[in-house]
Amino acid sequence: MCRGRFRDEEVAIKQLFWDNTMREDVVMQDLAKEVESFRHLRHKRLVTFIGACLEIPHPCIVTEYMPGGSLHHLLHVRKLQLPLLHAINMCMQLADGVRYLHSQNPVVVHRDLKTQNVVLDLNLNVKLCDFGLTESMERTHISKKNNGGSPRYMAPELFDCKTKITEKVDLWAMGCIFIEIFGGTLPYESINSLAELTRELLVHKRPPSLPGQIPDDLKPIISGCHNFDHRSRPSADQVFEQLAECKRHMRQVGAIPDATTSKAACRSSEASARSRRSRTAGAGA
Ligand SMILES: Nc1ncnc2c1ncn2[C@@H]1O[C@H](COP(=O)(O)OP(=O)(O)OP(=O)(O)O)[C@@H](O)[C@H]1O
Ligand SMILES: [Mg+2]
Repeated sequence: MCRGRFRDEEVAIKQLFWDNTMREDVVMQDLAKEVESFRHLRHKRLVTFIGACLEIPHPCIVTEYMPGGSLHHLLHVRKLQLPLLHAINMCMQLADGVRYLHSQNPVVVHRDLKTQNVVLDLNLNVKLCDFGLTESMERTHISKKNNGGSPRYMAPELFDCKTKITEKVDLWAMGCIFIEIFGGTLPYESINSLAELTRELLVHKRPPSLPGQIPDDLKPIISGCHNFDHRSRPSADQVFEQLAECKRHMRQVGAIPDATTSKAACRSSEASARSRRSRTAGAGA
């Protein structure tokens, strides 16, 4: 990914890796598929598609540039502990982006949600990116031939050839991201092989672990996303509403600041994040 300028705006340019050992038509097909899944989608929680070049030697996709880097970098490299209000707002923004995808007709399934594919602006607002595995659900499910994704974030049905794949795979992955936002580790961090991961999911049926510091109000929301029966997982819209309700309740009991003081708190946490960023500028571009 590199940064460029297009009509006076900063843009992100995703250049496709390509060399002479690869078949040109296969590279172009993959790129065209990604562009096709993405170019009609417009929402404040998705990076905006700007254009693409479908010709060798410069196959690329151009999108709006997000200067805050990836959520993975924020949480696991810079190790920023987000204030509770900020963390819950981030989860709501993610659920908002996913419910937009799932509200399309036919339903659009991202299929590769993970903190590396969530990018930030300078105020730590999040947007989804990387539509390389995204698919429209033309029928009631997606065929498994085109599998892929990041094993740690993959719902159990993706490891089991007998179960149908639906948009609920995004809910499982979103639950994993919520855990990371609230200070948790990567899903199944201590597991290092696919065989072990498959055993953990299909034999022991263990969901990713919930760290103790996650507020009690949030635990059932995350556990709902990690229901092993995909039909019992909530929709992204339901998760959004559950988070909104949880935020209202936390405000009532004083666990997060009320609306007036929270604006000031957000400004100060953004300012300190900005000052930290300027101190580390150039460290990992
Ligand atoms: N619009 C953007 N603005 C800023 N940074 C971005 C943007 N899109 C992606 N990035 C950064 O670049 C990284 C790689 O981008 P992306 O996830 O689209 O490609 P990829 O993971 O290499 O591709 P794929 O998973 O399809 O093989 C992201 O993890 C993120 O850190
Ligand atoms: Mg990616």
